[in-house]
Amino acid sequence: MTPPPLVTLRGARDDDAERLLEWRNDADAVRFSVSGQSVTGEDHARWFATRRQDPRVHLWIAEVDGTPVGQVRVDDENDGVGVVSVGVAPAHRGRGIGSAVLRAMVATVTADTTVRVLRALVHPDNAQSIRAFEKAGFRVTMAKEGAFSVLDRDVGKDRDQRTISRRPG
Ligand SMILES: CC(C)(COP(=O)(O)OP(=O)(O)OC[C@H]1O[C@@H](n2cnc3c(N)ncnc32)[C@H](O)[C@@H]1OP(=O)(O)O)[C@@H](O)C(=O)NCCC(=O)NCCS
Repeated sequence: MTPPPLVTLRGARDDDAERLLEWRNDADAVRFSVSGQSVTGEDHARWFATRRQDPRVHLWIAEVDGTPVGQVRVDDENDGVGVVSVGVAPAHRGRGIGSAVLRAMVATVTADTTVRVLRALVHPDNAQSIRAFEKAGFRVTMAKEGAFSVLDRDVGKDRDQRTISRRPG
């Protein structure tokens, strides 16, 4: 089996606005979004400008060999919960990139933020997304948010364990 490509994350920049809009309005991304609607260029520009200025929003572009292939966002809800949203560009789906992006995001959030639980709302018909999250250590919970399944990953525990193992003994 071909190993998944090496994925790196970088912070989103102003010049990512157009590609983010294109990925957001892809048919599957719309179908599985919480709103179920595409967004207009104007709404997107407003949304992007607000998110870029909000310190609780972490938005990364995933790259393979310097080419942008997807995005992942964590909205830090201030109660220790970070809500995750992910998307891979249509041409790059089904190659293991989605799960690699999520694993890279988990490592970054564990190292660089105070988020304790990562949470994703996934449409129950979105089997590919559920599988990608599971491969990054998320588990489907009993909870539901409307029609959406709730998947969680405890990153606080990982961080605590790392801190303990680094303490001089
Ligand atoms: C969901 C998404 C991010 C996944 O990224 P991806 O790069 O396509 O996913 P991967 O290639 O990492 O595949 C993940 C797993 O899903 C599996 N998979 C693919 N199609 C599947 C299907 N129809 N049913 C079940 N599993 C499926 C793959 O086999 C893989 O598992 P494996 O590695 O054990 O074989 C991407 O498809 C996407 O952007 N979709 C549209 C937007 C979206 O749905 N975003 C998520 C909203 S919560």
